Amino acid sequence: MDYDEIMERRARCMEDDLHPIPDDVLDKVKDEFYKTRKRSLEIFEELKSYIPGGVEHNLATSHPFPLTMDRAKGYKMWDVDGNEYVDFLLCGAPIILGHHYDPLDDEVVKIIQEKGPSTGLTSEYELLASKKIVEHMPSVDVVRFLQSGTEADMAALRIARAVTGRQKVIKVEGSYHGWYDTYVYNLHVPGTAGLNSPGIPPQTYDLLVEVKPNDFDALEKAFADNADDIACMVIEPVGGESGVHPVHPDWNGRCRELCDEYGALLIFDEVVTGFRLDMGGAQKYFDITADLTVLGKIVAHGFPSAGAVAGRREVMEIVGAGMGQRPYLGGTLAANPISCGACYHAIRLMEENDAVVKSTAFADRLTAELNALFDTRPDLPFFLYNYGPIIQYVTTGFFWVDITGPKAFEVISRRKTAEDYQMVASLNGLNSLAGTRMYTCMQHDDAALSKTLEVWEYILSLIPKK
Ligand SMILES: Cc1ncc(COP(=O)(O)O)c(C=O)c1O
Repeated sequence: MDYDEIMERRARCMEDDLHPIPDDVLDKVKDEFYKTRKRSLEIFEELKSYIPGGVEHNLATSHPFPLTMDRAKGYKMWDVDGNEYVDFLLCGAPIILGHHYDPLDDEVVKIIQEKGPSTGLTSEYELLASKKIVEHMPSVDVVRFLQSGTEADMAALRIARAVTGRQKVIKVEGSYHGWYDTYVYNLHVPGTAGLNSPGIPPQTYDLLVEVKPNDFDALEKAFADNADDIACMVIEPVGGESGVHPVHPDWNGRCRELCDEYGALLIFDEVVTGFRLDMGGAQKYFDITADLTVLGKIVAHGFPSAGAVAGRREVMEIVGAGMGQRPYLGGTLAANPISCGACYHAIRLMEENDAVVKSTAFADRLTAELNALFDTRPDLPFFLYNYGPIIQYVTTGFFWVDITGPKAFEVISRRKTAEDYQMVASLNGLNSLAGTRMYTCMQHDDAALSKTLEVWEYILSLIPKK
């Protein structure tokens, strides 16, 4: 689906009333949920004594309570009560070969058994892993491994500041770049400002310049108003939150041009898109050269703990390790043999299996067939669009509510209705991200497709026709 059609359908969705599942039906669903997920509930109740709120995974589906998973294999997951799920969360994107993929696990187990977990010194896996990343990503000459996407996003900002001698960063509202101070502003829903920022010194944001998604005029103004101060612009190249706020086809190119014009660096946050949208990341997919590339969980395919900041040699050279006057980056366990071994073998196995091509083919089919199913209900504004193996499915569009306008509070009811659909999906064996996103892997197959269609057909049957 192209950008214009997405935006048209989005407008229709936001004008439309909600289509809730009736309360009596929801009560029955909830009853069944509690009956069939007793051990998960017990664990959640006990965890509340040990973990604030009882859950620490932001990606958990928590309505009516978070589930505890027991194991995963291929595209399936099982919870501690033995319920099976077709998984489209895939740990928030890094799983593309499939969960618990034996050829990868065998290599990692061998490293643990034969080498030990880490020494704090160089291992040969750093060479193997960094060579693989450089081989695939067009804007990357050198790589520095860290331990998470958040760390890599922090590092990219520090490098950009050190290289340019400037302080300010331009970011797009609604984007996610981890939980570092500077980036936690206008998260998820544009206009939410400091809603998630308690604990962060407000003056941090003196150095942050925010623009609304795809607002070209605001972008030009942001650069012009801060001409000599902008160190960098950071973007999610398919649009904020992995395409929830879809990117205009000319946006990334214009960001590149303006960075060049004003002497700022362009940072591509490829924590989700790297080795998923394309083996060469979004930079190859869109044919845009980034100065710095941020990689995260995807470079160890779900093994802990992975992140990397990478980029052009002239830019990255400033962070060579050791003492001296250079921006400090570190991490005792960064670049450990397990993460780097997992990185090397995961990328090798993705190449050998054409993992991105297969995951994309499945995502294209799933998107087309679910859209065809939704078309059988013209009274509903539901639709899907995808960037390769990253699918956004829209039911209530709660991420798109204009939080600064008169309908700001709709975000609550829209979110609640989406969560109710998600609860039914989960009860019937589908797992996705936040009730709005699905990632696919190379092992999703016809059975996964049929199951997904069957569950959505059932959800539609619970929504009264208008
Ligand atoms: C685009 C993007 N950047 C950064 C991050 C943060 O990565 P991590 O959770 O490894 O800190 C995420 C996490 O989902 C992400 O999606």
